[in-house]
Amino acid sequence: MCGIVGISANRPIVQHLIAGLAALEYRGYDSAGVALLTGDGISRLRAKGKVRDLVALQAETGLDGHCGIAHTRWATHGVPSEGNAHPHVSGQVSLVHNGIIENHAALRRELQAEGYEFSSQTDTEVVAHLVERAQRQGLGLLAALQDTVKRLHGAYAIAAVSAREPGTVVGARYGAPLIVGLGEGEQYLASDVHALLPLTKRFMYLEEGDVAEVTVGGIRIFDLDGAPAEREVKESHFSADAVELGEYAHYMLKEIHEQPVAVADTLEGRIAGGKILTQIFGVDAERLLADTQAVHIIACGTSYHAGLVARYWIEQLAGVPCTAEIASEYRYRDPVVREGTLFLTISQSGETADTLAALKLAKERPYLARMAVCNVPESSIVRESALVLMTRAGPEIGVASTKAFTTQLVALALFSLALARAKGLDDERYSDGVRQLERLPGHIAEVLKLDEEIKELAEQFIGKHHALFLGRGTHWPVAMEGALKLKEISYIHAEAYAAGELKHGPLALVDEDMPVIAVAPNDRLIDKLKSNLEEVRARGGVLYAFVDETVAHGLDAARVVILPASGEIAAPIISTIPLQLLSYHVAVQRGTDVDQPRNLAKSVTVE
Ligand code: G6P
Repeated sequence: MCGIVGISANRPIVQHLIAGLAALEYRGYDSAGVALLTGDGISRLRAKGKVRDLVALQAETGLDGHCGIAHTRWATHGVPSEGNAHPHVSGQVSLVHNGIIENHAALRRELQAEGYEFSSQTDTEVVAHLVERAQRQGLGLLAALQDTVKRLHGAYAIAAVSAREPGTVVGARYGAPLIVGLGEGEQYLASDVHALLPLTKRFMYLEEGDVAEVTVGGIRIFDLDGAPAEREVKESHFSADAVELGEYAHYMLKEIHEQPVAVADTLEGRIAGGKILTQIFGVDAERLLADTQAVHIIACGTSYHAGLVARYWIEQLAGVPCTAEIASEYRYRDPVVREGTLFLTISQSGETADTLAALKLAKERPYLARMAVCNVPESSIVRESALVLMTRAGPEIGVASTKAFTTQLVALALFSLALARAKGLDDERYSDGVRQLERLPGHIAEVLKLDEEIKELAEQFIGKHHALFLGRGTHWPVAMEGALKLKEISYIHAEAYAAGELKHGPLALVDEDMPVIAVAPNDRLIDKLKSNLEEVRARGGVLYAFVDETVAHGLDAARVVILPASGEIAAPIISTIPLQLLSYHVAVQRGTDVDQPRNLAKSVTVE
């Protein structure tokens, strides 16, 4: 989604603004722009397409300056085009915005009635005009932004500059992240720490409603009520290297191969002497686990699939009723919350607008507590949750989530086992579950050795238009995740079905042009699944099976990929890896943009 960078310095900064945008490319976007204060006022460059197009424009024009803002836009209001790209300009003011201004139409009419002319179809342009109007009425840039945000409904992170106040960048945050970076003799604003890592490791995270002013001389922050505010300075542990591609052709491949380490990191310090340490979920976790009578899991996209797997674990191991639901649905219905229900959000970014809105809604309901499984410390979802279990996947750059998903599953398995133990799970099943988790990094490393075999298998999908993924039990959501990966990066239409549903419709689609991928490790449903696979073969379907070594023998499929036998809890995590590799290699062979698939965004900060 959209990205923001702003810099106030005593040296030319266009390269840093553009490098910041390049570091944010992974979020997904369709146009980019930069505005700088120069001797002539505000100068801007905008390009539809990639940051490299903006780089070319900058090289042609030589534009530079000491103070400016830059933006990558993911279109919501108005098509991707140069005219709709940010920064927007109104008189002496230039402004960039992430999020959605819900009352933009009414504001547009009001401003048009006063003679303001609009040059874009965006909701953002009203904000630029409002700031311009406030400044023309005599307010300084900071006060003009404070005045403007009072008129806005919706979600925003904003950065603005004005030719009347060269050297100042102002920003505001409500419902979309914005951080301040602290430099030596220069200061920064950005929507994401990654944009600034080459410049600083020291950050202040703005809170909801904050407005900030950044100049070479320092930083001023004001809260929602306009009172001066102090925000703690935090040191980021991310290094700029963590977001470099290294020897890999794509971030997605790099992140797939980082999974043994990411999973080991997520387990580290969380198990001791064969037992999960309950306090990893929070200080009051022991009591909360004992009091938990039900769990509501809420998430979006891949994180929702992790929640679906956890639902099986929580009910099977802990005997606690559990639902898993898409955040955008949950937030607009009237969920019934029984006493003792724990609210659990799962989010890689911690900024997904629907998940965050669901979490805010949950605050008003009688939940026992709110817990988050998240990959980004200091994210909004982490800050709004009482209990937190961080996944330690490190920065995930590829839009298609890989290591974030498997580490979410690890965190959720830790939670499910800890909850189950609090509910009386016997020693044998509990210890077996913990052992399966401890062996995971080694098992994942083993599965990654299948890379070449899967690359070759992927050739059979290049010319296909559709694919069907089948699974049962915890492997049904794994099949959903496999289908999502394939469709999002290779643009092959892929659907996942619980294998038992096959004969209720999708079987009609099965022929030699519809590859069927079955995720069928050796769990208690294997015999049932084998019967479903027979149904596919009997209709001439081409079947690819991913199974563990104990059931591979005699399976009638075009290709059987054999996975290590890892146990009931580890199996869905293990089975995910070859499906990630499959979609990666299919996408590479079809020549699509693997890391930044068309129309998609990494962090969906709008509804
Ligand atoms: C986007 C991303 C997905 C992700 C989903 C939820 O659609 O492309 O990879 O699963 O958002 O994001 P979250 O950060 O909340 O896990």
